Amino acid sequence: MKNTIPQELIQKFRSPEFPGSFFISFEGIEGAGKSTQIARLKDYLEKKNFRVLILREPGGTFFGERLREAILNAKTELHPLAEAHLFASSRTQLLSEVTLKELNIPNTVVIYDRYIDSSLAYQGVARGLGAREILEIHGQFPLTLVPHLTFYLKISPETSEKRQKMRNAPKDYFESRGMKFYESLVEGYDLASSLFKERILTLNAEQTLDNVELEIQDAINQLISKRPTNWNSDLET
Ligand code: TYD
Repeated sequence: MKNTIPQELIQKFRSPEFPGSFFISFEGIEGAGKSTQIARLKDYLEKKNFRVLILREPGGTFFGERLREAILNAKTELHPLAEAHLFASSRTQLLSEVTLKELNIPNTVVIYDRYIDSSLAYQGVARGLGAREILEIHGQFPLTLVPHLTFYLKISPETSEKRQKMRNAPKDYFESRGMKFYESLVEGYDLASSLFKERILTLNAEQTLDNVELEIQDAINQLISKRPTNWNSDLET
């Protein structure tokens, strides 16, 4: 059956083994608070003497930023498969041009604002391609590389709508699709979390920013403490 996902396919997706550097991603629907939490985490990690690099998807490279513009300002409906391949192209380029090199530098934390789980939720579930199709598109290195830890900031579609209204910013290609779309995004993120239980930490982002921040710091400290013991550095942890 097309929708059952073989374990071998899921197991292809592995976190990098670079000692001393970390790969983190943030996920969530519009209004979840990703940007705020990413900025706070960057400050927190820099105080611990990490080098922190924030990258966004789609984007992060000259090519990726052009694709970002093309997708988010699309005036016609794109085929979901075209969308999935465009996001995967931007992702491949960012991984090869920037991320792989950065992760080889000790003391580095690369933080992604969205990664593969966005493709699972948006193109896989909300746009109907199926999670298996997304994983198959990502089946070759470097697209099989996944973060050590992903924070899914979970809010309801209603909260997303309320927060978007308060912001009153112009809506892009995905933001004008209504409640049903947001409901399927939440379903999509829940599915991603069930496929990648060990990597994805779901946080209740209906709470105050400060509470969410503390939960993030707690999880990050646990991750840092798992660093190999032969890791020598003067980092303050
Ligand atoms: P962005 O402005 O970065 O959204 P946000 O501020 O909510 O993070 O726009 C990126 C949009 O692209 C967002 O609506 C999610 C969507 N997207 C996908 O559909 N698939 C993907 O793989 C990625 C990375 C993003």
